[in-house]
Amino acid sequence: MANFNAKNLKKIGVYTSGGDAPGMNAAIRAVVRTAIYHKLDVVGFNNGYLGMLNSNSLDLDLRSVANIIQKGGTFLKSGRCLEFKEANTRKKAAENIKTLGVDALVCIGGDGSFQGAHLLWEEHQIPVIGVPGTIDNDIFGSDNSIGFDTAVNTALEAIDRIRDTAASHDRLFIVEVMGRNSGFIATSVGLAGGAEDIFIPEIPYDMKTILNHIKQSIERGKKSSILITAEGHKPGRAYDLAESLRKQGNFDAKVCILGHIQRGGAPTAIDRILASRLGHQAVLELLNGQSDLMVGTEANKLITAPLESSAHSKKSVDKELIDLIQVLAL
Ligand code: F6P
Repeated sequence: MANFNAKNLKKIGVYTSGGDAPGMNAAIRAVVRTAIYHKLDVVGFNNGYLGMLNSNSLDLDLRSVANIIQKGGTFLKSGRCLEFKEANTRKKAAENIKTLGVDALVCIGGDGSFQGAHLLWEEHQIPVIGVPGTIDNDIFGSDNSIGFDTAVNTALEAIDRIRDTAASHDRLFIVEVMGRNSGFIATSVGLAGGAEDIFIPEIPYDMKTILNHIKQSIERGKKSSILITAEGHKPGRAYDLAESLRKQGNFDAKVCILGHIQRGGAPTAIDRILASRLGHQAVLELLNGQSDLMVGTEANKLITAPLESSAHSKKSVDKELIDLIQVLAL
């Protein structure tokens, strides 16, 4: 946590970075409207950190953020800027930010984006507040991130449809959801979708146990089942699992990969409300002279946490939920 003199705060910059998430537009709207309410000017950087490097920005006024609360994606566009890991790149971005007269930033994104934001503060004293926006919900320090609820509901709708056909044909399905390093989507979707089992990056799986599990469920009279896997580091992992089930257990599993469908679409009410609260709070933190923090929620209350810990610490999936999936799969 760090402080700066907010007396001279006149203009803030907002950007979305990393994978887009439904609700990012609602967060930008909240940042812009709160800033203008408090007599600040606002600019938006296009394409995340790339926009800072190319001075690709636009002035945002009250009407720039009209009619976007319900829209998926991010109208400022997003990106993963690997060059930002270089100190020289950050120096150039910092110079551009200062040339534009931007006094402080609001970064809407995930842990990689927060690392860049933290370094802009540490190396160039540019005040910054992070707003967690990623469908993965893997940001340490906040119960929820913008986009997660929408992604889970999108995946769930697909799984309910798959269940219809799985039941009609007495089939076993493996559905792959997003989550490179984290199993939050897989766990929530597994529980809400009544899955037989889940595979998540945080917990190594043992094929023998899975095969026994499926065999026992058949003995108990189950005719169709759905397994959920997070994509992990290799999208398409569901095909490898299906192959192992076939080779080692003689099970024929159908595969369905949901992919980027989970990133799009209109944000749910939960995500719009979260985005509005967090975007608003981010500006209030800057007005209070706070920097190097992330705003988030804990038990539905707004909290702040150091940006650096959010960027570096790992949030764990709730083991209770994982156990519950197994119990209810009986
Ligand atoms: O934004 C998070 C995420 O959706 C992960 O779940 C997924 O592994 C990754 O982004 C995919 O990123 P990209 O769209 O850059 O391939």
